[in-house]
Amino acid sequence: MDVKSPVVVVLGTGGTIAGTGSGPDEVSYRAAQLSVEQLLQAVPGLAGVALETLQVAQIDSKDMDWSVWQALAQQVQLALARRDVGAVVITHGTDTLEETAYLLHRLLDAHKPVVLTAAMRAATSAQADGPRNLHDAVRVAEHAAARGWAGVVVVMAGVVWPGHAVRKSHTWHIDDAFDGGGDEPLGHVTDSGAILGNVPWPSPGGAGWSCLDAARPPPRVEIVTSHAGADGRLVEALLAQSQRAGHALGGLVVAGTGHGTIHQGLTRALEKAEQQGVKVWRSSRVARGGVQSRESDHWPAAGTLTAAQARLALMLDLLGVPCGGMKD
Ligand code: SIN
Repeated sequence: MDVKSPVVVVLGTGGTIAGTGSGPDEVSYRAAQLSVEQLLQAVPGLAGVALETLQVAQIDSKDMDWSVWQALAQQVQLALARRDVGAVVITHGTDTLEETAYLLHRLLDAHKPVVLTAAMRAATSAQADGPRNLHDAVRVAEHAAARGWAGVVVVMAGVVWPGHAVRKSHTWHIDDAFDGGGDEPLGHVTDSGAILGNVPWPSPGGAGWSCLDAARPPPRVEIVTSHAGADGRLVEALLAQSQRAGHALGGLVVAGTGHGTIHQGLTRALEKAEQQGVKVWRSSRVARGGVQSRESDHWPAAGTLTAAQARLALMLDLLGVPCGGMKD
């Protein structure tokens, strides 16, 4: 009997993994130049895998926005719904990878593996890490699909990170550019693409996608940082601008000091914002540990999320995701 292997759909969005430069040096290159099809051609180790590709976007991920996320989530959802598809792999830039991974974790009904990957060096660099990462991502996707594991993960430098906790933690290192903010990796990738590590994959965050109204613009949520001398003038300017523009500010995430503490000058401005209907959440500007809830809290703590991820969580909260109630 001819049993066909499940298809792995590889969606391209750009990033340094698809970047090219005029020489092998590390810094002079442009992100998002090669198609996802071209990226796969540079990975001969995947010959024999049933791959399908789709270019969803071609951007430097610093320019990520809601419309690209919508298109991406829709394509992932369509692929996951196909019976012949075992898993989805996404090539992405590293700069907002943590945001996309977290958002997909919250939005998708990911009953199959969704594996994001990226690169710290352009495809033309002498140190290009994209081919290995893409190879690992596809092998991890296959390995997980064969075992019925589901959910959103990130594979970088041979390490599998949970999509809801991953973050960029070094601006140029290749081997430790990402970590879990204190959370352990889910596993390590062997040369054959198997995953070492028995940590169960996190259950998918939920089918938030189904309660989003695609035509509704996302609420405006901004991030403000607490620092020495923070006096709240930035918050006041945001409130004044949103009144002038008639586009209400929905929320503010504070990247607080330490365990989410906020300068007293900034606190006063945030209280004023709250009185005007703006939701305030607290995260930390510290790389690991996050901000845990305490009984005495006035504003909710964002747990282990980075400020950028907490911004998305607050946007989803304002949009009513998950349908009908709060969820971490
Ligand atoms: C990007 O995020 O698209 C550029 C930087 C990178 O991928 O490392």
